[in-house]
Amino acid sequence: MLNEGKAPVEESEIESQLAERLEEHGQEHALRWLPQLNEAQRRHLMEQLVAIDYERLDEFRELVQVPPTVTSFLGIEPAPVERLPVTDGQTQRDQTIRQLGAQALEADRVAALTVAGGQGTRLRYDHPKGMYPVSPIRGKSLFELFAEQILAARQRYGCGMPWLIMTSYTNDDETRHFFSENDFFGLGEDMVHFFIQQRNPILDAGGRLLRAEPDALLLGPDGHGGTFEALGKSRLLDVLRQGGWDLMTYFQVDNPLVTVADERFIGHHLNKDADFSCKVVPKRDPEEGLGLAVLRGGRPIVIEYVDVPPPVAAERLANGTLRYLFGSIAIHVMDVPFAERLLGRKDSLPWHLAKKQYEIVNEEGQKVLSPKGACHKFERFVFDALAMADECAFVEVQRQTQFAPVKNAEGEDSPASARHFMQLMWIQWLQAAGADVQMPKNLDEPLIEISPLFASTAEQLKERIEPGWKPSFPLVLEP
Ligand code: UD1
Repeated sequence: MLNEGKAPVEESEIESQLAERLEEHGQEHALRWLPQLNEAQRRHLMEQLVAIDYERLDEFRELVQVPPTVTSFLGIEPAPVERLPVTDGQTQRDQTIRQLGAQALEADRVAALTVAGGQGTRLRYDHPKGMYPVSPIRGKSLFELFAEQILAARQRYGCGMPWLIMTSYTNDDETRHFFSENDFFGLGEDMVHFFIQQRNPILDAGGRLLRAEPDALLLGPDGHGGTFEALGKSRLLDVLRQGGWDLMTYFQVDNPLVTVADERFIGHHLNKDADFSCKVVPKRDPEEGLGLAVLRGGRPIVIEYVDVPPPVAAERLANGTLRYLFGSIAIHVMDVPFAERLLGRKDSLPWHLAKKQYEIVNEEGQKVLSPKGACHKFERFVFDALAMADECAFVEVQRQTQFAPVKNAEGEDSPASARHFMQLMWIQWLQAAGADVQMPKNLDEPLIEISPLFASTAEQLKERIEPGWKPSFPLVLEP
Protein backbone atom coordinates (compact mmCIF):
# COMPACT_ATOMS: atom_id res chain seq x y z
CA MET A 1 0.00 0.00 0.00
CA LEU A 2 3.01 2.28 0.10
CA ASN A 3 3.30 3.78 -3.34
CA GLU A 4 6.87 2.63 -3.56
CA GLY A 5 8.44 3.02 -6.94
CA LYS A 6 6.60 6.32 -7.62
CA ALA A 7 8.51 9.22 -9.16
CA PRO A 8 10.34 11.26 -6.48
CA VAL A 9 8.57 14.44 -5.38
CA GLU A 10 10.30 17.82 -4.79
CA GLU A 11 11.38 18.05 -1.15
CA SER A 12 9.89 21.49 -0.52
CA GLU A 13 6.58 20.28 -1.85
CA ILE A 14 6.74 17.24 0.41
CA GLU A 15 7.31 19.35 3.49
CA SER A 16 4.48 21.71 2.80
CA GLN A 17 1.96 18.97 2.14
CA LEU A 18 2.99 16.35 4.62
CA ALA A 19 2.00 18.04 7.88
CA GLU A 20 -1.43 18.78 6.50
CA ARG A 21 -1.94 15.26 5.29
CA LEU A 22 -0.79 13.68 8.52
CA GLU A 23 -3.14 15.87 10.56
CA GLU A 24 -6.04 15.17 8.27
CA HIS A 25 -5.55 11.43 8.78
CA GLY A 26 -5.00 11.39 12.56
CA GLN A 27 -1.21 10.97 12.32
CA GLU A 28 0.07 14.30 13.62
CA HIS A 29 2.22 12.46 16.17
CA ALA A 30 4.51 11.48 13.28
CA LEU A 31 5.55 15.12 12.94
CA ARG A 32 7.14 14.95 16.38
CA TRP A 33 9.47 12.20 15.15
CA LEU A 34 11.17 14.33 12.53
CA PRO A 35 13.14 16.82 14.69
CA GLN A 36 14.85 13.91 16.49
CA LEU A 37 16.50 12.76 13.24
CA ASN A 38 19.56 13.74 11.21
CA GLU A 39 19.09 14.92 7.63
CA ALA A 40 19.40 11.54 5.91
CA GLN A 41 17.08 9.83 8.40
CA ARG A 42 14.58 12.66 8.13
CA ARG A 43 14.50 12.31 4.37
CA HIS A 44 14.04 8.54 4.60
CA LEU A 45 11.14 8.76 7.01
CA MET A 46 9.52 11.56 5.01
CA GLU A 47 9.71 9.47 1.87
CA GLN A 48 7.86 6.68 3.62
CA LEU A 49 5.25 9.04 5.04
CA VAL A 50 4.64 10.58 1.64
CA ALA A 51 4.31 7.18 0.00
CA ILE A 52 1.45 6.06 2.25
CA ASP A 53 -1.88 5.38 0.58
CA TYR A 54 -3.91 7.56 2.94
CA GLU A 55 -7.27 6.37 1.70
CA ARG A 56 -6.35 2.82 2.64
CA LEU A 57 -4.85 4.02 5.92
CA ASP A 58 -8.26 5.46 6.82
CA GLU A 59 -9.82 2.08 6.07
CA PHE A 60 -7.35 0.46 8.48
CA ARG A 61 -7.96 3.07 11.19
CA GLU A 62 -11.65 2.32 10.98
CA LEU A 63 -10.98 -1.42 11.30
CA VAL A 64 -8.86 -0.81 14.41
CA GLN A 65 -11.62 1.20 15.99
CA VAL A 66 -14.55 -0.94 14.89
CA PRO A 67 -13.11 -4.43 14.49
CA PRO A 68 -15.00 -6.65 12.05
CA THR A 69 -17.76 -8.69 13.64
CA VAL A 70 -17.07 -12.31 14.50
CA THR A 71 -17.86 -14.63 11.57
CA SER A 72 -21.41 -15.86 11.98
CA PHE A 73 -22.07 -19.53 11.30
CA LEU A 74 -25.74 -18.96 10.53
CA GLY A 75 -26.49 -20.14 7.01
CA ILE A 76 -23.15 -21.93 6.78
CA GLU A 77 -23.00 -25.54 5.69
CA PRO A 78 -20.26 -27.93 4.60
CA ALA A 79 -19.24 -27.45 0.97
CA PRO A 80 -19.73 -30.19 -1.64
CA VAL A 81 -16.39 -31.80 -2.38
CA GLU A 82 -15.11 -33.84 -5.34
CA ARG A 83 -14.16 -36.90 -3.31
CA LEU A 84 -11.34 -39.30 -4.07
CA PRO A 85 -12.69 -42.03 -6.33
CA VAL A 86 -13.60 -45.32 -4.65
CA THR A 87 -15.86 -47.28 -7.01
CA ASP A 88 -14.95 -48.33 -10.56
CA GLY A 89 -17.43 -45.85 -11.96
CA GLN A 90 -15.86 -43.02 -9.98
CA THR A 91 -12.36 -44.08 -11.03
CA GLN A 92 -13.43 -44.05 -14.67
CA ARG A 93 -14.94 -40.58 -14.31
CA ASP A 94 -11.75 -39.44 -12.60
CA GLN A 95 -9.68 -40.76 -15.53
CA THR A 96 -11.73 -38.72 -17.97
CA ILE A 97 -11.31 -35.66 -15.80
CA ARG A 98 -7.55 -36.21 -15.57
CA GLN A 99 -7.46 -36.18 -19.36
CA LEU A 100 -8.83 -32.64 -19.31
CA GLY A 101 -6.02 -31.59 -17.00
CA ALA A 102 -3.40 -33.34 -19.11
CA GLN A 103 -4.72 -31.65 -22.25
CA ALA A 104 -4.47 -28.20 -20.61
CA LEU A 105 -0.87 -28.95 -19.63
CA GLU A 106 -0.04 -30.19 -23.14
CA ALA A 107 -1.65 -27.10 -24.62
CA ASP A 108 0.80 -25.04 -22.50
CA ARG A 109 -2.01 -23.19 -20.72
CA VAL A 110 -0.63 -23.56 -17.19
CA ALA A 111 1.76 -21.29 -15.26
CA ALA A 112 3.05 -22.04 -11.74
CA LEU A 113 2.65 -19.48 -8.97
CA THR A 114 4.30 -19.71 -5.55
CA VAL A 115 3.67 -17.38 -2.62
CA ALA A 116 6.93 -17.01 -0.76
CA GLY A 117 6.57 -13.65 0.92
CA GLY A 118 5.89 -14.92 4.45
CA GLN A 119 8.25 -14.22 7.29
CA GLY A 120 8.63 -17.84 8.41
CA THR A 121 8.79 -16.76 12.05
CA ARG A 122 7.61 -20.09 13.42
CA LEU A 123 10.33 -22.02 11.57
CA ARG A 124 13.05 -19.87 13.16
CA TYR A 125 15.02 -19.90 9.89
CA ASP A 126 16.85 -16.72 9.04
CA HIS A 127 16.49 -16.88 5.26
CA PRO A 128 13.61 -17.07 2.80
CA LYS A 129 11.71 -20.28 3.61
CA GLY A 130 12.10 -21.57 0.04
CA MET A 131 15.86 -21.88 0.65
CA TYR A 132 15.31 -24.35 3.48
CA PRO A 133 17.22 -27.60 2.79
CA VAL A 134 14.39 -30.04 3.19
CA SER A 135 14.95 -33.18 1.14
CA PRO A 136 16.04 -36.13 3.28
CA ILE A 137 19.28 -37.21 1.59
CA ARG A 138 20.45 -34.56 -0.88
CA GLY A 139 19.32 -31.67 1.31
CA LYS A 140 17.64 -29.96 -1.65
CA SER A 141 15.83 -26.72 -0.90
CA LEU A 142 12.07 -26.29 -1.23
CA PHE A 143 12.71 -24.02 -4.23
CA GLU A 144 14.87 -26.67 -5.92
CA LEU A 145 12.24 -29.38 -5.44
CA PHE A 146 9.56 -27.15 -6.99
CA ALA A 147 11.92 -26.20 -9.83
CA GLU A 148 12.52 -29.88 -10.58
CA GLN A 149 8.78 -30.50 -10.68
CA ILE A 150 8.36 -27.68 -13.17
CA LEU A 151 11.22 -28.99 -15.31
CA ALA A 152 9.67 -32.46 -15.17
CA ALA A 153 6.28 -31.08 -16.24
CA ARG A 154 7.89 -29.24 -19.14
CA GLN A 155 9.52 -32.47 -20.31
CA ARG A 156 6.39 -34.55 -19.86
CA TYR A 157 3.85 -32.25 -21.44
CA GLY A 158 6.11 -30.35 -23.82
CA CYS A 159 5.01 -27.09 -22.27
CA GLY A 160 6.78 -23.87 -21.23
CA MET A 161 5.33 -23.49 -17.73
CA PRO A 162 6.68 -20.17 -16.44
CA TRP A 163 7.13 -19.80 -12.68
CA LEU A 164 5.89 -16.73 -10.85
CA ILE A 165 7.24 -16.26 -7.33
CA MET A 166 5.85 -13.71 -4.92
CA THR A 167 8.44 -12.36 -2.50
CA SER A 168 8.33 -9.60 0.08
CA TYR A 169 10.44 -6.48 0.60
CA THR A 170 12.42 -8.34 3.26
CA ASN A 171 13.26 -11.48 1.29
CA ASP A 172 13.21 -10.43 -2.37
CA ASP A 173 16.97 -9.75 -2.76
CA GLU A 174 18.05 -12.94 -1.05
CA THR A 175 15.54 -15.02 -3.02
CA ARG A 176 16.68 -13.63 -6.36
CA HIS A 177 20.30 -14.08 -5.39
CA PHE A 178 19.65 -17.71 -4.47
CA PHE A 179 18.10 -18.40 -7.86
CA SER A 180 20.82 -16.67 -9.79
CA GLU A 181 23.53 -18.46 -7.75
CA ASN A 182 21.85 -21.75 -8.72
CA ASP A 183 21.49 -20.80 -12.37
CA PHE A 184 17.71 -20.72 -11.95
CA PHE A 185 17.83 -24.49 -11.46
CA GLY A 186 17.91 -24.89 -15.23
CA LEU A 187 14.52 -23.24 -15.75
CA GLY A 188 15.86 -20.26 -17.69
CA GLU A 189 16.05 -16.82 -16.13
CA ASP A 190 13.41 -15.44 -18.49
CA MET A 191 10.87 -18.02 -17.34
CA VAL A 192 11.17 -17.30 -13.61
CA HIS A 193 9.39 -14.09 -12.62
CA PHE A 194 9.73 -12.60 -9.16
CA PHE A 195 7.24 -10.02 -7.99
CA ILE A 196 7.13 -8.25 -4.66
CA GLN A 197 4.04 -8.06 -2.53
CA GLN A 198 3.02 -4.72 -1.06
CA ARG A 199 3.42 -3.83 2.58
CA ASN A 200 1.13 -1.99 4.90
CA PRO A 201 1.71 0.19 7.93
CA ILE A 202 1.12 -1.58 11.22
CA LEU A 203 -0.91 0.58 13.61
CA ASP A 204 -1.32 0.98 17.36
CA ALA A 205 -4.63 0.60 19.19
CA GLY A 206 -5.51 4.22 18.34
CA GLY A 207 -5.01 3.62 14.60
CA ARG A 208 -1.72 5.52 14.66
CA LEU A 209 1.44 4.77 12.67
CA LEU A 210 4.30 3.06 14.49
CA ARG A 211 8.04 2.95 13.86
CA ALA A 212 10.40 -0.03 13.56
CA GLU A 213 13.46 2.23 13.43
CA PRO A 214 13.83 5.92 14.35
CA ASP A 215 13.60 6.72 10.63
CA ALA A 216 11.40 3.84 9.41
CA LEU A 217 7.74 2.99 9.78
CA LEU A 218 6.68 -0.37 11.13
CA LEU A 219 5.43 -2.14 8.01
CA GLY A 220 4.23 -5.67 7.31
CA PRO A 221 3.52 -7.72 4.17
CA ASP A 222 -0.08 -7.56 3.01
CA GLY A 223 -0.79 -11.31 3.17
CA HIS A 224 -0.90 -13.81 0.31
CA GLY A 225 -4.12 -12.15 -0.80
CA GLY A 226 -1.77 -9.39 -1.92
CA THR A 227 -0.92 -11.71 -4.82
CA PHE A 228 -3.56 -10.16 -7.06
CA GLU A 229 -2.54 -6.54 -6.50
CA ALA A 230 1.14 -7.42 -6.80
CA LEU A 231 0.53 -9.39 -10.01
CA GLY A 232 -1.32 -6.40 -11.40
CA LYS A 233 1.42 -3.92 -10.47
CA SER A 234 4.14 -6.13 -11.90
CA ARG A 235 2.23 -6.49 -15.18
CA LEU A 236 2.80 -10.24 -15.01
CA LEU A 237 -0.83 -10.94 -15.86
CA ASP A 238 -0.10 -9.32 -19.22
CA VAL A 239 2.92 -11.59 -19.64
CA LEU A 240 0.71 -14.60 -18.94
CA ARG A 241 -2.04 -13.48 -21.28
CA GLN A 242 0.40 -12.76 -24.08
CA GLY A 243 2.04 -16.15 -23.64
CA GLY A 244 -1.33 -17.94 -23.75
CA TRP A 245 -1.16 -19.12 -20.11
CA ASP A 246 -4.70 -18.74 -18.84
CA LEU A 247 -4.44 -20.99 -15.77
CA MET A 248 -2.28 -20.61 -12.69
CA THR A 249 -1.42 -23.46 -10.38
CA TYR A 250 -0.90 -21.76 -7.01
CA PHE A 251 0.93 -23.20 -4.01
CA GLN A 252 2.61 -22.07 -0.82
CA VAL A 253 6.36 -22.22 -0.44
CA ASP A 254 6.04 -24.37 2.67
CA ASN A 255 4.75 -27.65 1.19
CA PRO A 256 7.36 -29.97 -0.37
CA LEU A 257 4.69 -32.56 -1.25
CA VAL A 258 2.68 -30.32 -3.55
CA THR A 259 2.07 -31.77 -7.02
CA VAL A 260 2.62 -28.75 -9.21
CA ALA A 261 1.26 -30.20 -12.46
CA ASP A 262 -1.73 -32.09 -11.07
CA GLU A 263 -3.81 -33.43 -13.96
CA ARG A 264 -6.69 -34.43 -11.70
CA PHE A 265 -6.96 -31.11 -9.89
CA ILE A 266 -6.66 -29.03 -13.06
CA GLY A 267 -9.14 -31.41 -14.72
CA HIS A 268 -11.76 -30.90 -12.00
CA HIS A 269 -11.29 -27.15 -12.23
CA LEU A 270 -11.91 -27.23 -15.97
CA ASN A 271 -14.73 -29.77 -15.77
CA LYS A 272 -16.61 -27.48 -13.41
CA ASP A 273 -15.79 -24.42 -15.48
CA ALA A 274 -14.49 -22.93 -12.24
CA ASP A 275 -12.65 -19.63 -11.77
CA PHE A 276 -10.87 -20.59 -8.58
CA SER A 277 -10.48 -24.08 -7.13
CA CYS A 278 -9.15 -25.44 -3.92
CA LYS A 279 -7.55 -28.70 -2.75
CA VAL A 280 -8.94 -30.03 0.51
CA VAL A 281 -8.23 -32.87 2.93
CA PRO A 282 -10.22 -34.25 5.86
CA LYS A 283 -9.03 -32.43 8.96
CA ARG A 284 -6.83 -34.42 11.34
CA ASP A 285 -8.77 -33.15 14.34
CA PRO A 286 -11.03 -30.17 15.14
CA GLU A 287 -8.05 -28.04 16.19
CA GLU A 288 -5.97 -28.47 13.04
CA GLY A 289 -5.09 -25.07 11.55
CA LEU A 290 -6.74 -25.43 8.14
CA GLY A 291 -9.25 -23.02 6.63
CA LEU A 292 -12.69 -24.69 6.39
CA ALA A 293 -14.31 -25.36 3.02
CA VAL A 294 -17.94 -24.29 3.44
CA LEU A 295 -20.91 -22.76 1.67
CA ARG A 296 -22.32 -19.45 2.88
CA GLY A 297 -25.69 -18.62 1.43
CA GLY A 298 -24.99 -21.37 -1.11
CA ARG A 299 -21.67 -19.83 -2.22
CA PRO A 300 -18.36 -21.60 -1.67
CA ILE A 301 -15.94 -19.90 0.70
CA VAL A 302 -13.03 -20.79 2.96
CA ILE A 303 -13.26 -19.63 6.56
CA GLU A 304 -9.87 -19.23 8.21
CA TYR A 305 -9.40 -21.53 11.19
CA VAL A 306 -8.91 -18.70 13.66
CA ASP A 307 -12.43 -17.48 12.80
CA VAL A 308 -14.10 -20.81 13.52
CA PRO A 309 -15.43 -21.02 17.09
CA PRO A 310 -14.05 -24.22 18.74
CA PRO A 311 -17.55 -25.71 19.38
CA VAL A 312 -18.37 -25.31 15.66
CA ALA A 313 -15.04 -26.89 14.63
CA ALA A 314 -15.79 -29.80 16.98
CA GLU A 315 -19.38 -30.47 15.77
CA ARG A 316 -19.86 -34.06 14.68
CA LEU A 317 -22.41 -35.94 12.59
CA ALA A 318 -24.30 -38.95 13.99
CA ASN A 319 -21.64 -41.27 12.48
CA GLY A 320 -18.89 -39.47 14.40
CA THR A 321 -17.19 -37.63 11.51
CA LEU A 322 -16.60 -33.91 11.83
CA ARG A 323 -19.47 -31.90 10.42
CA TYR A 324 -17.00 -29.43 8.91
CA LEU A 325 -14.59 -32.07 7.75
CA PHE A 326 -12.68 -30.58 4.85
CA GLY A 327 -9.88 -28.09 5.29
CA SER A 328 -8.02 -26.18 2.61
CA ILE A 329 -4.36 -27.04 2.10
CA ALA A 330 -3.86 -23.74 0.30
CA ILE A 331 -3.31 -25.16 -3.18
CA HIS A 332 -5.40 -23.57 -5.87
CA VAL A 333 -5.98 -23.36 -9.56
CA MET A 334 -7.14 -19.99 -10.77
CA ASP A 335 -8.01 -18.54 -14.11
CA VAL A 336 -5.91 -15.63 -15.31
CA PRO A 337 -9.04 -13.76 -16.57
CA PHE A 338 -10.52 -14.19 -13.08
CA ALA A 339 -7.45 -12.55 -11.51
CA GLU A 340 -7.79 -9.72 -14.02
CA ARG A 341 -11.46 -9.25 -13.14
CA LEU A 342 -10.62 -9.14 -9.43
CA LEU A 343 -8.11 -6.38 -10.01
CA GLY A 344 -10.73 -4.28 -11.65
CA ARG A 345 -13.08 -4.46 -8.64
CA LYS A 346 -13.13 -1.75 -6.02
CA ASP A 347 -14.62 -4.07 -3.39
CA SER A 348 -11.77 -6.52 -3.77
CA LEU A 349 -10.60 -8.78 -0.97
CA PRO A 350 -11.44 -7.89 2.65
CA TRP A 351 -8.75 -7.02 5.20
CA HIS A 352 -8.07 -9.29 8.17
CA LEU A 353 -6.67 -7.80 11.30
CA ALA A 354 -4.06 -9.62 13.39
CA LYS A 355 -2.98 -8.23 16.74
CA LYS A 356 0.71 -8.88 17.28
CA GLN A 357 3.76 -7.94 19.25
CA TYR A 358 6.68 -6.16 17.56
CA GLU A 359 9.79 -4.32 18.49
CA ILE A 360 8.92 -0.64 18.06
CA VAL A 361 10.51 2.75 18.63
CA ASN A 362 8.79 4.66 21.43
CA GLU A 363 8.18 8.41 21.62
CA GLU A 364 11.56 8.88 23.35
CA GLY A 365 13.28 7.25 20.38
CA GLN A 366 14.13 4.01 22.20
CA LYS A 367 13.53 0.50 20.86
CA VAL A 368 11.12 -1.40 23.07
CA LEU A 369 8.98 -4.50 22.76
CA SER A 370 5.35 -3.49 22.34
CA PRO A 371 2.78 -4.99 24.71
CA LYS A 372 1.40 -8.29 23.37
CA GLY A 373 -1.31 -7.76 20.75
CA ALA A 374 -0.77 -3.99 20.68
CA CYS A 375 0.27 -3.82 17.02
CA HIS A 376 -2.48 -4.11 14.39
CA LYS A 377 -1.41 -5.81 11.17
CA PHE A 378 -3.59 -5.95 8.06
CA GLU A 379 -3.54 -8.83 5.64
CA ARG A 380 -5.54 -10.21 2.78
CA PHE A 381 -6.10 -13.92 2.22
CA VAL A 382 -6.01 -15.34 -1.28
CA PHE A 383 -8.88 -17.73 -0.62
CA ASP A 384 -11.26 -14.81 0.02
CA ALA A 385 -11.23 -14.51 -3.77
CA LEU A 386 -13.58 -17.48 -3.75
CA ALA A 387 -16.45 -15.22 -2.75
CA MET A 388 -16.02 -13.48 -6.09
CA ALA A 389 -15.74 -16.62 -8.19
CA ASP A 390 -18.74 -17.80 -10.21
CA GLU A 391 -17.73 -21.42 -9.80
CA CYS A 392 -15.32 -23.29 -7.58
CA ALA A 393 -14.26 -26.92 -7.31
CA PHE A 394 -13.24 -28.20 -3.88
CA VAL A 395 -11.17 -31.27 -4.70
CA GLU A 396 -10.25 -33.88 -2.10
CA VAL A 397 -6.69 -35.17 -2.27
CA GLN A 398 -4.74 -37.69 -0.25
CA ARG A 399 -3.08 -35.84 2.57
CA GLN A 400 -0.05 -38.07 2.80
CA THR A 401 0.91 -37.57 -0.83
CA GLN A 402 0.07 -33.89 -1.10
CA PHE A 403 0.53 -32.06 2.14
CA ALA A 404 3.44 -31.99 4.58
CA PRO A 405 4.02 -28.30 5.31
CA VAL A 406 7.14 -26.94 6.93
CA LYS A 407 5.83 -24.39 9.38
CA ASN A 408 7.35 -25.05 12.80
CA ALA A 409 10.93 -25.68 13.88
CA GLU A 410 9.97 -28.93 15.61
CA GLY A 411 7.10 -31.36 16.08
CA GLU A 412 4.06 -31.30 13.81
CA ASP A 413 4.44 -29.56 10.47
CA SER A 414 8.21 -29.26 10.85
CA PRO A 415 11.14 -30.17 8.56
CA ALA A 416 11.40 -33.50 10.41
CA SER A 417 7.73 -34.35 9.87
CA ALA A 418 7.94 -33.24 6.21
CA ARG A 419 10.94 -35.55 5.63
CA HIS A 420 9.09 -38.37 7.34
CA PHE A 421 6.08 -37.94 5.03
CA MET A 422 8.23 -37.51 1.92
CA GLN A 423 9.94 -40.83 2.66
CA LEU A 424 6.64 -42.53 3.52
CA MET A 425 5.17 -41.36 0.22
CA TRP A 426 8.16 -42.53 -1.84
CA ILE A 427 8.17 -45.97 -0.21
CA GLN A 428 4.44 -46.25 -0.95
CA TRP A 429 5.08 -45.24 -4.56
CA LEU A 430 7.68 -48.03 -4.82
CA GLN A 431 5.23 -50.52 -3.33
CA ALA A 432 2.46 -49.38 -5.69
CA ALA A 433 4.87 -49.78 -8.60
CA GLY A 434 5.43 -53.40 -7.57
CA ALA A 435 8.90 -53.04 -6.05
CA ASP A 436 9.87 -55.57 -3.42
CA VAL A 437 10.02 -53.19 -0.46
CA GLN A 438 8.88 -53.40 3.16
CA MET A 439 7.83 -50.27 5.00
CA PRO A 440 10.87 -49.41 7.17
CA LYS A 441 10.27 -49.19 10.91
CA ASN A 442 12.00 -45.85 11.23
CA LEU A 443 11.23 -43.19 8.65
CA ASP A 444 13.06 -40.53 10.57
CA GLU A 445 16.51 -41.55 9.28
CA PRO A 446 17.56 -40.52 5.73
CA LEU A 447 16.52 -43.52 3.61
CA ILE A 448 15.10 -42.55 0.29
CA GLU A 449 14.85 -39.64 -2.06
CA ILE A 450 13.20 -39.54 -5.49
CA SER A 451 13.94 -36.51 -7.61
CA PRO A 452 10.82 -35.09 -9.31
CA LEU A 453 12.91 -35.36 -12.48
CA PHE A 454 12.88 -39.14 -12.05
CA ALA A 455 9.19 -39.30 -11.09
CA SER A 456 6.82 -36.63 -9.77
CA THR A 457 3.89 -39.00 -9.06
CA ALA A 458 3.26 -42.64 -8.21
CA GLU A 459 2.07 -43.28 -11.79
CA GLN A 460 5.27 -41.84 -13.23
CA LEU A 461 7.39 -44.06 -10.97
CA LYS A 462 5.45 -47.07 -12.21
CA GLU A 463 6.54 -46.22 -15.73
CA ARG A 464 10.20 -46.17 -14.63
CA ILE A 465 10.78 -49.32 -12.61
CA GLU A 466 10.34 -53.06 -13.07
CA PRO A 467 7.85 -54.92 -10.85
CA GLY A 468 9.68 -57.13 -8.37
CA TRP A 469 12.76 -54.84 -8.24
CA LYS A 470 14.43 -55.03 -4.84
CA PRO A 471 16.24 -51.77 -4.12
CA SER A 472 18.79 -51.32 -1.35
CA PHE A 473 18.77 -48.36 0.99
CA PRO A 474 19.66 -45.54 1.26
CA LEU A 475 18.19 -45.09 -2.20
CA VAL A 476 18.39 -42.02 -4.41
CA LEU A 477 16.52 -42.05 -7.70
CA GLU A 478 17.43 -39.21 -10.00
CA PRO A 479 17.91 -38.83 -13.73
C1 UD1 B 1 -2.21 -21.18 5.81
C2 UD1 B 1 -3.66 -20.79 5.50
C3 UD1 B 1 -4.64 -21.87 5.92
C4 UD1 B 1 -4.24 -23.17 5.26
C5 UD1 B 1 -2.80 -23.54 5.67
C6 UD1 B 1 -2.33 -24.75 4.92
C7 UD1 B 1 -3.51 -18.42 5.84
C8 UD1 B 1 -3.98 -17.23 6.53
N1 UD1 B 1 -3.97 -19.57 6.18
O1 UD1 B 1 -2.02 -21.06 7.20
O2 UD1 B 1 -5.97 -21.54 5.52
O3 UD1 B 1 -5.14 -24.19 5.65
O4 UD1 B 1 -1.89 -22.47 5.32
O5 UD1 B 1 -0.97 -24.97 5.14
O6 UD1 B 1 -2.75 -18.35 4.92
N2 UD1 B 1 2.66 -15.64 2.56
C9 UD1 B 1 3.05 -14.65 1.71
N3 UD1 B 1 2.85 -13.37 2.10
C10 UD1 B 1 2.29 -13.03 3.28
C11 UD1 B 1 1.88 -14.06 4.14
C12 UD1 B 1 2.08 -15.37 3.75
O7 UD1 B 1 3.56 -14.91 0.62
O8 UD1 B 1 2.14 -11.83 3.55
C13 UD1 B 1 2.86 -17.04 2.15
C14 UD1 B 1 3.94 -17.72 2.97
O9 UD1 B 1 5.22 -17.53 2.42
C15 UD1 B 1 3.48 -19.16 2.93
C16 UD1 B 1 1.95 -19.04 2.87
O10 UD1 B 1 1.67 -17.77 2.37
O11 UD1 B 1 3.90 -19.78 1.75
C17 UD1 B 1 1.21 -19.34 4.18
O12 UD1 B 1 1.46 -18.39 5.14
P1 UD1 B 1 1.31 -18.68 6.70
O13 UD1 B 1 1.22 -17.37 7.37
O14 UD1 B 1 2.40 -19.58 7.14
O15 UD1 B 1 -0.12 -19.41 6.82
P2 UD1 B 1 -0.68 -20.48 7.87
O16 UD1 B 1 -1.11 -19.80 9.11
O17 UD1 B 1 0.29 -21.57 8.04
